[in-house]
Amino acid sequence: MSFNHKHLIDITEYSDTDIMTILETAKAFSAVNERAIKKVPTLKGKTIVNMFNEPSTRTRSSFELAEKRLSADSLNFGGSSTSTVKGESLIDTVMTLNSYKIDMVVVRDKHEGAPYIVTQHTPAAVIDAGDGKHGHPTQALLDLYTIWQRFGHLDGLKVGIVGDISHSRVCGSLIPALKIVGAEVTLIAPGTLIPMNPEVLGADRVSASLDDVLPELDVVYMLRIQRERLEGAPFPSQREYHMLYGLTEARERLMKPEAIVCHPGPINRGVELDSYMADHPQRSVILDQVYAGICVRMAALYLLLGGADNGLAS
Ligand code: CP
Repeated sequence: MSFNHKHLIDITEYSDTDIMTILETAKAFSAVNERAIKKVPTLKGKTIVNMFNEPSTRTRSSFELAEKRLSADSLNFGGSSTSTVKGESLIDTVMTLNSYKIDMVVVRDKHEGAPYIVTQHTPAAVIDAGDGKHGHPTQALLDLYTIWQRFGHLDGLKVGIVGDISHSRVCGSLIPALKIVGAEVTLIAPGTLIPMNPEVLGADRVSASLDDVLPELDVVYMLRIQRERLEGAPFPSQREYHMLYGLTEARERLMKPEAIVCHPGPINRGVELDSYMADHPQRSVILDQVYAGICVRMAALYLLLGGADNGLAS
């Protein structure tokens, strides 16, 4: 197996083969996660810093678990408990961490480009765990893994991404990732939640009407309304947004029988989707996405830290 990447920041640097290598490796690690003893010695002796300068539930917890299950030493670090509140810069923080001879930094930050800046000041590998509105590559990979597990393939699938496209870092990685693996991508949102030049995102088309395109979609990917990043009033009320763009029990009748519902979390129940759809036993794969987070992050840690050269330790 060949895998020649040091960092995971820009998914467009990854080929279809690279992405499928990560997904196949994640599938192998899924078997580890199903065992009674969910631990392998694969990354024993490696030191990984989880630098989360912004809140996270799923990404942070799954990186920590992935590292533990691979036997790496983890340092959980960031936010208001660090000396950044005393004025220490990101660069000085990274150079301080370098002194510990670390092997990898996983970075979540509200500033776009922070993970790239970290690469310029550390010899360690870097994973972007979500930076501002820019990207979230491991989220895109876990989404692809979840969809691949359900359909058995990715090429040719029709994926609709619905909602707050403008403020979504998930879109920054998911749209290019879907295009790399051959899926067809439609963005569905009111004009106020789509960038001025949506073609730069790389999607195949844009629609203002969910009802028009819902019957064609294999995957309905609902985005959270990013209340913390909204400026102005992009829609009159959450009630109106839910009426036009919410995935509801009534709208389910428009969906293909085999179509699935994804959401990166956290969910705003009653805004982008109702509880009937969020908890739908056949259609909702939201908790499958959470599980995929551990498997895909184990795969990314393993491959970026040179595991492919040493074999998958059991
Ligand atoms: N999907 C996602 O990034 O969730 P968290 O913010 O909880 O990590």
